[in-house]
Amino acid sequence: MHLLTTALPLLALAGSALAQTFSDCDPTKVGNCPPNQALGVDNYTIDFTQNMMSKDVWNVTTGAIDYKDDGATFRIGAKGEQPLVKTRFYIFFGQVEVIMKAAPGQGIVSSIVLQSDDLDEVDWEWIGGNSTYVQTNYFGKGNTTSFDRAAWHEVTGPDTQEDFHNYTLDWSKEKLDFYIDGKVIRTLKYEDANGGKNYPQTPSDVRLGIWPGGDSASEGTRDWAGGEIDYSKVPFDMVVKSVRVSDASNATEYVWGDRTGDWQSIQLKTDAKAIKLDGENSQSTTQSVQQKWNGLSQTAKIAIIASVCGVLGLGAAVFIFCCFKQRRLGKHERLIEDAKFEKNQSELMAYRADMARQRSEKLAQAQTYAVPAGHVGNIGAYIQPPRTPVNGGASPLMGGYQQGGYQRY
Ligand SMILES: *[C@@H]1O[C@H](CO)[C@@H](O)[C@H](O)[C@H]1NC(C)=O
Ligand SMILES: *[C@@H]1O[C@H](CO)[C@@H](O)[C@H](O)[C@H]1NC(C)=O
Ligand SMILES: *[C@@H]1O[C@H](CO)[C@@H](O)[C@H](O)[C@H]1NC(C)=O
Ligand SMILES: *[C@@H]1O[C@H](CO)[C@@H](O)[C@H](O)[C@H]1NC(C)=O
Ligand SMILES: *[C@@H]1O[C@H](CO)[C@@H](O)[C@H](O)[C@H]1NC(C)=O
Ligand SMILES: *[C@@H]1O[C@H](CO)[C@@H](O)[C@H](O)[C@H]1NC(C)=O
Repeated sequence: MHLLTTALPLLALAGSALAQTFSDCDPTKVGNCPPNQALGVDNYTIDFTQNMMSKDVWNVTTGAIDYKDDGATFRIGAKGEQPLVKTRFYIFFGQVEVIMKAAPGQGIVSSIVLQSDDLDEVDWEWIGGNSTYVQTNYFGKGNTTSFDRAAWHEVTGPDTQEDFHNYTLDWSKEKLDFYIDGKVIRTLKYEDANGGKNYPQTPSDVRLGIWPGGDSASEGTRDWAGGEIDYSKVPFDMVVKSVRVSDASNATEYVWGDRTGDWQSIQLKTDAKAIKLDGENSQSTTQSVQQKWNGLSQTAKIAIIASVCGVLGLGAAVFIFCCFKQRRLGKHERLIEDAKFEKNQSELMAYRADMARQRSEKLAQAQTYAVPAGHVGNIGAYIQPPRTPVNGGASPLMGGYQQGGYQRY
């Protein structure tokens, strides 16, 4: 991932870092790279306390974004997590304002990045172990060989993790100004970036993300990020309250004219399809349930609570009534069953007594007719066991005996 390579420290900058620095189609290396979708408006604003990123405007490339009352949460909650989003639009100079709170945690890096297809780049990076400083950085055409681009800046007032600050870039073809809470803290002039060669000057998208620098395979990156990450301290949250982006041009598409990567080579097209921004071509209207709720007036909230309570109240009443009925019904049924049981018990006794009586009668008869001795023990053969009642239907224990009687021999 490019974020990783750009975050490389001043020390230990390996050749392998460059190998990871790639773009799907680098227009300075390959011809016919696709044009970039332009933002095309000078004030795209999204307030994450009110709205979610719409997928037409943002590409959540890694992980998932959660929305809390104070904004979009980029969380590292476990090893391997590193949520990252990027805009589907590009700006060709303009402004990028992000109101955010950096994540705590040694080795954790919060970041705002502007990145072009030919690897021009502008960064803001916060190291979790340092809550009073932010680093700014820039790259031209993926050139990471110079050691004087990164700079640390103190953030005054509440620290970077404790409260929201306004980090703004004001980018033109002449200079790049970095602002913290309305104050310019750094200015990079075109000519001061290796005579313009290292000056970011091509259409760029905007990326917001958090990543585990302390887990990097590169020792240099781990050191820069402040060291190993202690995952027993998760979660580490970077919270973005709002983003405002303004595109200096009102083109709908940026076309790569040649392979120089110079700003003069970029062609502005206005006849391409404009990006579909949510809402009034600026403010997003995609909302989470929580955001919809938060956005309701007090009166609407009360009305909803009242009706929900009404429904719940009615439900409770129905439930109690049913339980009560069920219990009464149960008691009633139980009594009937008990009565039946007792009745059946006594009938069974009567039946048995009857059987015993008949048995002794048969025995007496058998003795009278002088049945051979061997048959005496087989006396049961004279008496058939109870069979299905003649009237059928009723079970033997439900009064069948009484109703129709068992056939007997
Ligand atoms: C940008 O638009 C938002 C509303 O979408 C508005 O509140 C804000 O004032 C505008 N800012 C500028 C600089 O035009
Ligand atoms: C989102 O970004 C990823 C990573 O760059 C890319 O592979 C994917 O195609 C993008 N998704 C869309 C819908 O553009
Ligand atoms: C934060 O970083 C700055 C700049 O590198 C450094 O001067 C300061 O001592 C660091 N603070 C902590 C707590 O590491
Ligand atoms: C990369 O940047 C360094 C420092 O500014 C410069 O000396 C070198 O020529 C640049 N390389 C290229 C290929 O532009
Ligand atoms: C953030 O800072 C920029 C640059 O100073 C300023 O134009 C903008 O109004 C600020 N935004 C807010 C919300 O204060
Ligand atoms: C935007 O386009 C209109 C014509 O559609 C033009 O008059 C205006 O100057 C353009 N604005 C910028 C900032 O390019």
